[in-house]
Amino acid sequence: MKKTLPARRRTFLASTLATGAGLTILPSGTLAGKGAGGKLNIALIGAYGRAKAHYGNIAHENVVAICDVHSDNLAMAAKKFPKAKQYIDWRKCLDQKDLDAVVCCTPDHTHAFISIWAMNRGLHVYCEKPLGDCVYEARAVREVYLKNKGKLATQHGTQRHAGDNFDRVAELVKGGAIGELKDVHAWGNRTHNKTAYLPAKGTPPQNVDWDKWIGPVQMHPYNPEYLSGRPGANCLHWNMYHDFGSWQVGDMGSHTMDLAWNAIDASAPTSAKADSEASDPYNPDVCPSALKAVFNMPANDWRGEIRLAWYQGGPMPNSPFGALDLKRISHGVMFKGSKGIIVADFKNRILIPMGKNTDMTYYKSPTPEQVAPPIGNFQQEWINACKGDLKTSCDFDYAGLMIETLMLGLASHRAGTELKYDEKNMQITNNPAANAYLKKEYRNGWDLNG
Ligand SMILES: NC(=O)c1ccc[n+]([C@@H]2O[C@H](COP(=O)([O-])OP(=O)(O)OC[C@H]3O[C@@H](n4cnc5c(N)ncnc54)[C@H](O)[C@@H]3O)[C@@H](O)[C@H]2O)c1
Repeated sequence: MKKTLPARRRTFLASTLATGAGLTILPSGTLAGKGAGGKLNIALIGAYGRAKAHYGNIAHENVVAICDVHSDNLAMAAKKFPKAKQYIDWRKCLDQKDLDAVVCCTPDHTHAFISIWAMNRGLHVYCEKPLGDCVYEARAVREVYLKNKGKLATQHGTQRHAGDNFDRVAELVKGGAIGELKDVHAWGNRTHNKTAYLPAKGTPPQNVDWDKWIGPVQMHPYNPEYLSGRPGANCLHWNMYHDFGSWQVGDMGSHTMDLAWNAIDASAPTSAKADSEASDPYNPDVCPSALKAVFNMPANDWRGEIRLAWYQGGPMPNSPFGALDLKRISHGVMFKGSKGIIVADFKNRILIPMGKNTDMTYYKSPTPEQVAPPIGNFQQEWINACKGDLKTSCDFDYAGLMIETLMLGLASHRAGTELKYDEKNMQITNNPAANAYLKKEYRNGWDLNG
């Protein structure tokens, strides 16, 4: 088995940047930000809630624009960034001429729009997860990024990726510690009990622009429950409804599948099959709480074809042996190989040699030079990349394909059948009707590629 180093390792010397340590080597033509002292001029869209986790990093740059549909939230952000121009409509915000970069922390159903519109205006983007809400959105974001690769830095908000365990797990898997990789199982345990969009309740308060909150998706009546969560976890009050999110597929699925994705060097799946027995029935209003979806992932230059499975809200892979209770791991990944198993969560990993000839003499652990260097602060990695070599750990190529794959699982759930996938043409080949499930219908006047 060939050991492949993370791309970051290979480009490490060229990308050690701007954190004060060591030599800085910038590729020719690289620009710093437009602000004084080379600082980035940043627009923060979706300025409260999850955005607070970005305040610390972006406060060292110039936050020149903040945008939020909730005037109280905008006011909270304005306390932190008093010099920033204020907007309610992100489309107007993106027209501000002095911008370099955008941090997007809005609800999921606007992520692909804001990311694409920003890249189309030549802006670097950090977008909270998930990048899109359906196959088509994830693909569209990725394609616009690929057109701009070499000009823009992008980062998908899966900040757990910066934990050392991600690369240590990848080094074990790619280094052959469990032999030939066969199956990968990723899971999460969150559940919801919703069965329909919330009924109309009251009129939207003056401090919320409900029409702009709904944005590109179909109108649904206001109900205060959609906005009743605590800051940074309010997403759990709207992301189970199809028009607003993809529930755990895009929520913890983004983080947990990232732990797997980082270790498998994946290309697009050739098929997806949601397991109708293990999953909740399709509901046109809400995403399934319980879901199991299995993807066939083509071989690459260091492994054969593998099966990749996503489980949420109940269904779980079988434990390799009774004493290991996988259910005690809330969000985890199990890699099964010909000679053993790795079970990991975001911070820990267990290597279990299994079967015959598993004395581990076949495995050579990496030398210190082969070990991927720490990423450091994940948000800062993006800021440094905007000013430097544009390389990040979770750019929209890496993350776009991962989200496209996960969303194909939801499409299969809706179709009720396995879907054979021609990724080149983004087409379902065995069930033409299911092609409609790869996309969302937008309200008049909303263009994803604006
Ligand atoms: N990376 C992580 O670990 C992590 C953790 C929590 C949330 N998130 C992600 O962050 C995003 C926001 O989650 P949240 O819980 O903060 O949600 P939220 O409902 O609190 O929304 C965040 C902010 O966006 C504003 N907003 C809503 N629609 C807007 C629009 N069209 N234009 C501008 N502003 C708008 C809201 O008023 C709010 O201030 C979600 O996509 C979620 O998946 C990521």
